[in-house]
Amino acid sequence: MDKPVIRVAVVGAGFVGSALIEMLSDPSRHVALVDAATAPIELVGVAVRDLSKHRAGIANELLTSDAQSLCEREDLDILVEVAGGIEPARSLIETALGRGVSVVTANKSLMAACGTDLARLAHENGADLFYEAAVGGGIPILRALRTSLAGERIDRVMGIVNGTTNFILSKMTSEASDYEEVLAEAQALGYAEADPSADVEAHDAAAKVQILSSLAFGTGLYGEEISREGITGIRLVDVEFARRAGYVIKLLGVAERVGEFGISRRVHPAMIDVDHPLASVHGAMNAVFVEGTKAGPLMWLGQGAGGAPTATAVLGDVLDAARNKVSGRHDVPFMVDTTLHSVSAGDLSSVFYISIDVLDRPGVLAAVAGVFGNHGVSIQSMEQSGFADEARLSFLTHHARSSDVDATMQELSGLESVDSIGACIRVIEGGTQ
Ligand SMILES: NC(=O)c1ccc[n+]([C@@H]2O[C@H](COP(=O)([O-])OP(=O)(O)OC[C@H]3O[C@@H](n4cnc5c(N)ncnc54)[C@H](OP(=O)(O)O)[C@@H]3O)[C@@H](O)[C@H]2O)c1
Repeated sequence: MDKPVIRVAVVGAGFVGSALIEMLSDPSRHVALVDAATAPIELVGVAVRDLSKHRAGIANELLTSDAQSLCEREDLDILVEVAGGIEPARSLIETALGRGVSVVTANKSLMAACGTDLARLAHENGADLFYEAAVGGGIPILRALRTSLAGERIDRVMGIVNGTTNFILSKMTSEASDYEEVLAEAQALGYAEADPSADVEAHDAAAKVQILSSLAFGTGLYGEEISREGITGIRLVDVEFARRAGYVIKLLGVAERVGEFGISRRVHPAMIDVDHPLASVHGAMNAVFVEGTKAGPLMWLGQGAGGAPTATAVLGDVLDAARNKVSGRHDVPFMVDTTLHSVSAGDLSSVFYISIDVLDRPGVLAAVAGVFGNHGVSIQSMEQSGFADEARLSFLTHHARSSDVDATMQELSGLESVDSIGACIRVIEGGTQ
């Protein structure tokens, strides 16, 4: 019998695709790749949009602009989709899976929008669908949830899953710089896009929370909205308040159990205790912190983006899928637990930090405190700073329902003595809470 060869096609040769192709073609990795895949891997084609671009390290005869034909090749075993976007990525993946070709993708937005349907299609056709690189770039968190923690009851997954926003918040903290100034620097360094909204308004992190919660809890991937707050409202005064109070501000993606059947999924800035393991995740690094009933706290840390780290995760998936192809099996996709229901962020309680700019005149504090009282939000501590046009009140509340805090903010914004509402940030207390 002929020894099997695993034929792989790649759609996309940008940051991730070109790094993957370089690793697949590196002679010094050949033995390790064959060993891990249990068969030689042959790259049979690379689809790109623009054939006129020079592509170092990719043989011309492999290149095509016809991704569809690549997916329809009779001899194809694995399709790697690293082009991004919803279409044509979705159709290409459906074509491949429908023909029993395993798929590896790094496409978080696609997986968050319709991953459950794609996983079902893969299963029906005896193929694998792997997407390790879709969350945390080079951090192997999805495989850990899928395999090592498969039998664990996970209580909470909390992650810094967007490098751009972590870079911005870290710089604001370490250099006492304003948001706008650091955003411009992040754009100049290539950490942030010209249009940064996917990152700073937390769409990217929300897609990753969807994916993490599907594996940790069995929630479906159907593109439903999860609660999302970005970092555009964070000011230097908030970062400095956090530092004085023993916290750091991080954009956290959270998926957690609430009671027996409730799941809360949300992304929001949070003040976390400086002793929490996530507090020391700086710059563009990503980290995912998991709390299991029996395993206790666990954390993964690494580069959440970049061509080479992300391609490492893609390559791991390719080897996994290759091994399965050789042995004639495929992995069972994640289960969807239909007994679970979403708990709205407004129903959750937390300590909150609230900052408001006020007019510097007598009676303001009493008026503001009265509004907190109207909504049953009790104040733990208050700091008054600045004067005249710069007067500001900063509060830490006791535990309060998020919807009550929202109502407080709403009423405060209507007070004559309130100039503007600044930030309202959840506080996560404790080293490993
Ligand atoms: N970059 C990261 O750090 C990172 C991290 C985690 C996940 N990801 C995910 O990985 C995927 C790829 O990201 P990337 O940064 O490598 O993107 P990229 O640099 O923009 O590259 C995209 C590649 O896809 C090709 N392409 C786009 N549409 C195509 C089509 N219709 N047919 C054929 N080829 C097409 C482009 O061709 P041309 O070269 O001709 O334009 C380009 O080579 C995305 O889903 C992204 O979210 C990226």
